[in-house]
Amino acid sequence: MTEQHQQVYPVTESFKKQALVDRAKYDEMYERSIKDPEGFWGEHGKRLEWSKPYTKVKNTTYDYDNLSIKWFEDGELNASVNCLDRHLEKRGDQTAIIFEGDDPSVSRHITYRELHAETCKFANVLKTLGVSKGDVVTIYMPMIVETAVAMLACARIGAIHSVVFGGFSPEALGARIQNGKSRFVITADEGVRGGRTIPLKKNVDKALESDKVPDVERVVVVTRTGGDVPWDESRDARYEDLMKSASADCPAEPMNAEDPLFMLYTSGSTGAPKGVLHTTGGYLVFAAMTHEYVFDYHDGDVYWCTADFGWITGHSYILYGPLANGAKTLLFEGVPSYPDTSRIGQVVDKHKVNTLYTAPTAIRALMAEGESCMANSSRDSLKLLGSVGEPINPEAWEWYYRVIGNAKCPIVDTWWQTETGGILISPLPGAIDLKPGSATLPFFGVQPAVVDNDGNVLEGKTEGNLVILDSWPGQMRTIYGDHERFKQTYFSTYKGRYFTGDGVRRDEDGYYWITGRVDDVLNVSGHRLGTAEVESALVAHEKVAEAAVVGYPHEIKGQGIYVYVTLVHGQEPTDELRKELVQWVRKEIGPIASPDVIQWATGLPKTRSGKIMRRILRKIAANEHDQLGDTSTLADPGVVDELIAQREFKK
Ligand code: WTA
Repeated sequence: MTEQHQQVYPVTESFKKQALVDRAKYDEMYERSIKDPEGFWGEHGKRLEWSKPYTKVKNTTYDYDNLSIKWFEDGELNASVNCLDRHLEKRGDQTAIIFEGDDPSVSRHITYRELHAETCKFANVLKTLGVSKGDVVTIYMPMIVETAVAMLACARIGAIHSVVFGGFSPEALGARIQNGKSRFVITADEGVRGGRTIPLKKNVDKALESDKVPDVERVVVVTRTGGDVPWDESRDARYEDLMKSASADCPAEPMNAEDPLFMLYTSGSTGAPKGVLHTTGGYLVFAAMTHEYVFDYHDGDVYWCTADFGWITGHSYILYGPLANGAKTLLFEGVPSYPDTSRIGQVVDKHKVNTLYTAPTAIRALMAEGESCMANSSRDSLKLLGSVGEPINPEAWEWYYRVIGNAKCPIVDTWWQTETGGILISPLPGAIDLKPGSATLPFFGVQPAVVDNDGNVLEGKTEGNLVILDSWPGQMRTIYGDHERFKQTYFSTYKGRYFTGDGVRRDEDGYYWITGRVDDVLNVSGHRLGTAEVESALVAHEKVAEAAVVGYPHEIKGQGIYVYVTLVHGQEPTDELRKELVQWVRKEIGPIASPDVIQWATGLPKTRSGKIMRRILRKIAANEHDQLGDTSTLADPGVVDELIAQREFKK
């Protein structure tokens, strides 16, 4: 680490003046949130409108055999009411969503009143189609306003939305539809990103052709491009046709705080992706409160989170958090590199964006372009920057700060997960001095701890595994349909504690530095992928006998995907086959899982009991084979030398 990177960025003067919380207030609120969680959350839960107020606040235990996570359990509310109806009186004609199209000449403002009317109409449409409370509705959509409408309409009638990222393949989509036993799919004819179309409806059709996905009854198709798409009269319906006759009057379903709001699939270290289930009350309180405090949101601010609705960041910080706070949230259909890399700066200037929340991978990609990509924008409107999804390296932090933020905007480096529902560790910009690369300190009510591999809690300056000691309202409640797996995955490694899967360092000031996953989960351009998922896609190919997948350091993506493949006896390792396997993985999972490097391996390093030693494969992939460590437990140590000799260099 160079001198520069140890630099501390104190809270700026302008934030000292405007911020909701200064250091003294942070300390006071944090202490109360830990000592008196009942009182603290009982008070802050009131930021929402409850149709039936709660009398109980926290009922949680991490005790393995009695595991229970309930917040505000006797209260009733509706998320769409909190995001829409509640604002009509005061800010009905204020912008809720600023839509910025993929095409830079297209943008529009949608007011709270308009969004409310659309949502109510679509909620009625869903009811007419037969959707009722508790049904799972799959949403496979581009980044357009109708996606927000679809999510909020589900929430209004108590249906559980399951958004599947539009970049996933028909196979991956089908598996998620089936796992959720979803009978309804909402999609668009085609998506548009970076000037290219994405065949969403065709992908849905392909997913539903499979015998493994037999239950879907209705597919609603939003017209985005008007392109030609296959049609099944008995199953498919046009959004626009259905909306024509729908009433804009739709009373909201009162939901218990612990009724499900949505599920969202994410990757773990083993097995198929799991449906992370979030409930209504605690999730919404936590998403709204973190959005307000972490982004120091003030009425009228224009806030832009560049995530996709297909990920948790899109759920909590494009939709639910901001709208629950009556914010102006920018919804971007495109990508930062289209029509060219000046786009982010252009959009900021066009809509006078005050807060920009994006991922390190996007920053590194712009950084590689050079500062000229920001030359034709001023970005004067920016007050605050945010980072999420992966560790941000200090070089990227400094570049983000200096070039995008004109050296005047604090950066909130927010650490959290699909499972946590909202931000758990992050600076509050008016309270916490910044250190580039550190997510700094916990949010209210969050108790991080560092443990060694045996689960001993380590004190002071240290390094180890990140666990959380007690529940917070936004925590996931279960894995859809598999509560046992939920317990196993998160609470069995360190009994009585929530295990995050991340490694962490804590410095002398108590600041947390996330070092990345310590399990077999990859983080590629901020997207989570299980090595097991990519491996099972590969071995499904007829020419592949065995595959092992590891991450390696990648300049732009953070981690790249390095694959070791052993072919079926008699198969030739050719460049064509290499390309075929890349295509195969894209087909099975989606482009985000494309292997960056494929190395042919005649054998893989295994223990005598047959377990692949990934630690060794990771070192070879990272070109650190001088640090292999102990290889004496290998069944055949010779394999390692062979792999090193044949190592593939990324061209
Ligand atoms: C990583 C995204 C370092 C981490 C919200 C975590 C981060 C995983 C940060 C969750 C950060 C997320 N610094 N690492 N600020 N934010 N991560 O579920 O490894 O898509 O466990 O949620 O991303 O990814 P997920």
